[in-house]
Amino acid sequence: PVVPVILSGGSGSRLWPVSRSSYPKQFWPLVSQHTMVQETALRSHGPGFAAPIVVCNNEHRFIMAEQLREVGVTGARILLEPMGRNSAPAIVAAALLAAETDPDAVLWVMAADAAMMKPENIRPALDLAVRVARAGRIVTFGMMPTKAETGYGYIEKGDSLPGYDGAFAVAQFTEKPDAARAAAMFESGRFLWNSGMFVFTARTLLQEMEKFEPAIVAAVGQAMAGRRTDIDFDRLDAEAFAASPEISIDYAVAERTDLMTVIPADFGWFDVGSWDALWEFNPKDRNGNVVSGDVVMNNTTNSYVRTDGILTAVAGVKDLLVVVNEDAVLVTHRDHAQDVKNIVAELKRTH
Ligand code: GDD
Ligand code: MG
Repeated sequence: PVVPVILSGGSGSRLWPVSRSSYPKQFWPLVSQHTMVQETALRSHGPGFAAPIVVCNNEHRFIMAEQLREVGVTGARILLEPMGRNSAPAIVAAALLAAETDPDAVLWVMAADAAMMKPENIRPALDLAVRVARAGRIVTFGMMPTKAETGYGYIEKGDSLPGYDGAFAVAQFTEKPDAARAAAMFESGRFLWNSGMFVFTARTLLQEMEKFEPAIVAAVGQAMAGRRTDIDFDRLDAEAFAASPEISIDYAVAERTDLMTVIPADFGWFDVGSWDALWEFNPKDRNGNVVSGDVVMNNTTNSYVRTDGILTAVAGVKDLLVVVNEDAVLVTHRDHAQDVKNIVAELKRTH
């Protein structure tokens, strides 16, 4: 069976005031009635899947365990990080844990901050990815880009992989290009976006990490060796884990390895990163609005209005994002959805 690995770090500051560091975005029902962690766990639950390995911050352990329990995902191993060291150390911890049982286990690494509107397309692509991973390669799923976004990894599709119809070598992987390179890559039509999901065997991933970032393998290996195990939780040793370099899997491995493989796919994927993304990808009413909660609207177009608390009325505006909860209100223009993280930084200084 495939071992799902769910990464749940990150604080989701652009989704303030719903997302908070004590209760970040992946634990909220932003896209469906389930939270994003639950959606991710359910996506990789059932026949063909082992119980998941979840990697999250120590602070979120009870929220995580409770949310998995709510949707009937049992038997998860929850690896607790004393602090965030980005995705590469988190993935190494999961790979080391899986390798204790089976070094050739196939892992499906998933971010807990993505939505898939066409989940029916996942299984065939994953089955192919598993075959390619068993052949010792590292697989990602390539999403069709829709704009010159700088926040993603860009994948240039190379030669098709003999014997694996639908899989391609990666000619070049470029994580978070600057605006000029993003525009050039988008316009060339030759690049796909990295979905942030990876499929590989524990052995392959650890071998490539050992090659490119041996200090991570050493530090996380020590943190795992010194871990304390409760019933559901494995707490990584804090001192050892703190010594790990802080780097994402994209820079640590995807940009450097010769084993990178891409499977182009349409999962209806979108990154739940900002309120504008939620406006963009949700079904809209006839005025182009996405509305959630107790909202009254008049003469309003192309706006996202959400209240998880008090009655909210909006009139005579367009292109706004309005988000209300019990203790805070956000109002911003859709073009400034990314600036919300600056507000959060400001709040951290002043509140
Ligand atoms: N456990 C744990 N610990 N998880 C982490 C940590 C950490 O320290 N840091 C990040 N993660 C998790 C995040 O919660 C998310 O689920 C995933 O790893 C990716 O991290 P992000 O910080 O969201 O990365 P990104 O969005 O900037 O970029 C990645 O995703 C893009 C698609 O959304 C890259 O893989 C890009 O190439 C990709 O296009
Ligand atoms: Mg992300």
